[in-house]
Amino acid sequence: MEILDLRHFASADLRSLMEEEVAIWRSTLHWDYRSSADMILRYADSRILPGFTAIERGRIHGYCFFVYEGPKGVIGDMYVEDSAATHTRRHGIEVELLRHSITTLQQSPGVHRVEAQLLIHPSGDFAGVFEGEGFRRYRRLFLALPISAAYSEPSVPLPPDIEIHPWTEADYQPAAHIITTAYHSHVDSNVNDQYRTVSGSLRFLNNIVRFPGCGVFDPTSSFVAFHRPTRTRIGVLLCSRIRHDVGHITQVCTLPEYRGQGIGEHLLRYSYADLASRRFTELSLTVTEENHRALDLYRRLGFHHVHTFDGFVWES
Ligand SMILES: CC(C)(COP(=O)(O)OP(=O)(O)OC[C@H]1O[C@@H](n2cnc3c(N)ncnc32)[C@H](O)[C@@H]1OP(=O)(O)O)[C@@H](O)C(=O)NCCC(=O)NCCS
Repeated sequence: MEILDLRHFASADLRSLMEEEVAIWRSTLHWDYRSSADMILRYADSRILPGFTAIERGRIHGYCFFVYEGPKGVIGDMYVEDSAATHTRRHGIEVELLRHSITTLQQSPGVHRVEAQLLIHPSGDFAGVFEGEGFRRYRRLFLALPISAAYSEPSVPLPPDIEIHPWTEADYQPAAHIITTAYHSHVDSNVNDQYRTVSGSLRFLNNIVRFPGCGVFDPTSSFVAFHRPTRTRIGVLLCSRIRHDVGHITQVCTLPEYRGQGIGEHLLRYSYADLASRRFTELSLTVTEENHRALDLYRRLGFHHVHTFDGFVWES
């Protein structure tokens, strides 16, 4: 088995591997990964996607790619085919691909931070590889809630001075401020450093709202909480469509001084109600295991555990 630069290969070489991966996303996470796979294949054809492939007798058995975002490198995805290999051999190829990618990123001039969230890979599978290279590990949970017509009553009414509005373009800048304030000293701003600054939060929003990397942004099931007396936005929930009938919450947060009043719960209920009215069948999200407050809220609203994966972070 040889590890070669991904940029030597075109979409035709990767297509059957991607099709296998698409099937895994579909069955484990109810996530239609086809648009992301198509994007990866388009990048492969432009020969601009940095990464590695595992090759044997001229055939690709696995790949791993990463992207550079200024001083940060992000491992975007890694997949090794299930069919031919035994579990041990497959794991060995996965580890090799990751090692090559990690070393390349850590040695890239100007890169001071590397992040990886390997969503379809079970937590623990690559802990040794990343921790051995100095990464911190964050266990992350993938939760899902089936959508049915009948849903429990809210635990508290929405406070009378709060209104919930559907997302509009005018919410962009205020949402970046809410995100930055909401995640101050929060574990998730270690996992994703974009949350630490307003410009970073704007980049995060831009990725979610304008690009189809994490599903397709769904404005009608995304909401903003508005504090009427001060005429300010104090909470935001963003939802994307990851399958024709599955919504995925990519962001929910409220300003610290407004927490514990049911606003987070009502934002989630608004999103749920909108998706239910459009006959979606499921709503999912991811949450860091140590984010107990959010996790307790999701569990109380009926979200169940689907899968645990790892987020890894390295800083020089
Ligand atoms: C998670 C979050 C959106 C919840 O928003 P919220 O407006 O506080 O939501 P609610 O008031 O509906 O529920 C929050 C829960 O925290 C409890 N709580 C208690 N004290 C609290 C306090 N000082 N501040 C916040 N919540 C408190 C609430 O009672 C409620 O518990 P319950 O579910 O057992 O009833 C909010 O805490 C937040 O923005 N956190 C930072 C960002 C984050 O973690 N987002 C989720 C990422 S997956």
